[in-house]
Amino acid sequence: MTMMSSEPEQAARPPIKDNLMSLQSHILSEEARHPGATGELSWILSAISLAGKTIANKVRRARIEDVLGEHGDLNVQGEQQQKLDVIANEIIMRCLGDRANIAVLASEEDEEPTILRTGSEGGKYCVLFDPLDGSSNLSFGVGVGTIFTILRNDPNVPDVQQTLQQPGTEQVAAGYILYGSSTVFVLTTGNGVDLFVLDQSIGSFVLVQRNVRIPEANRVYSINEAYSDHFPGGFKQYLQWAHENGYSSRYIGSMVADVHRTLLQGGVFLYPPTKKHPEGKLRLMYEAFPMAMIVEHAGGKAFADGKRLLDVVPDNLHQRTSVIMGSPEEVDRVEQHLHGG
Ligand code: AHG
Ligand code: MN
Ligand code: MN
Repeated sequence: MTMMSSEPEQAARPPIKDNLMSLQSHILSEEARHPGATGELSWILSAISLAGKTIANKVRRARIEDVLGEHGDLNVQGEQQQKLDVIANEIIMRCLGDRANIAVLASEEDEEPTILRTGSEGGKYCVLFDPLDGSSNLSFGVGVGTIFTILRNDPNVPDVQQTLQQPGTEQVAAGYILYGSSTVFVLTTGNGVDLFVLDQSIGSFVLVQRNVRIPEANRVYSINEAYSDHFPGGFKQYLQWAHENGYSSRYIGSMVADVHRTLLQGGVFLYPPTKKHPEGKLRLMYEAFPMAMIVEHAGGKAFADGKRLLDVVPDNLHQRTSVIMGSPEEVDRVEQHLHGG
């Protein structure tokens, strides 16, 4: 027997489309999908988001506050530090420095990693970052960004360098914040790639695209072609082939901006070995690894020296690598020219 309700029957409410989702809520909902998750990663990501908003503000006001130009020191890479490299580094250190669960912070700008606590003191994660990528472009209003990766800290490995020397496949999360015509936060925690844009009026990163997929192919290459006389033969052959096959070229000179465009538009981003940088210019652990994790989780490919970039086992925090990443078909094509594979 069914009970008759005295209330008028309510029509089922249609699901709300276009829900507004902040980065914060997104991280919490992702965490809820993992039974046993402790929320520790979420704390770190929220600190990175705070750092990103603070750096974005500095970048936008840099000319007004007169913090453009060189700082006067060379960093560990022997490259001229910009004032904003140092400021961005300090902001990240301040935002992450007192978060429980972080064992080690390692930055492009600091020769040695900063040890905050050991594994037995609760240091579960290590955060590696390039505070400001593309900083030599800053004075010209070009897009720059922050790149980061989060690794697990093995409490049984006492040596910090050794703790950090994990292949790219071991990254727990990776992302970047691009300070371009808008401020964009791209994140993967190993479950697809999500894209957020900073809504300045409410001070929040808002989800604008879930599960970003890189196009399978696109006839666009991104490379500093001025160095091509010094590229290994296979890269020259590929470029020649691309010229003959109607390709277009885009190169900003900030990896974070070039890879972001490649992620959304398709094509391939390359930084081959050159005369000046025979092993490649980009840093393996805090530039190439995080970008490769994002590209792969979006359905793309990333290679270095004829093998999957994420499989490389680092032997030095600041080591450099060559890079080929982007749409799967385009990366395959470059690899065919390089290795006939
Ligand atoms: P950073 O500003 O962190 O030192 O990185 C600069 C890098 C990278 O963003 C970019 O892809 C590359 O330098 C550009 O190098 P070239 O000027 O040699 O093309
Ligand atoms: Mn960089
Ligand atoms: Mn940098």
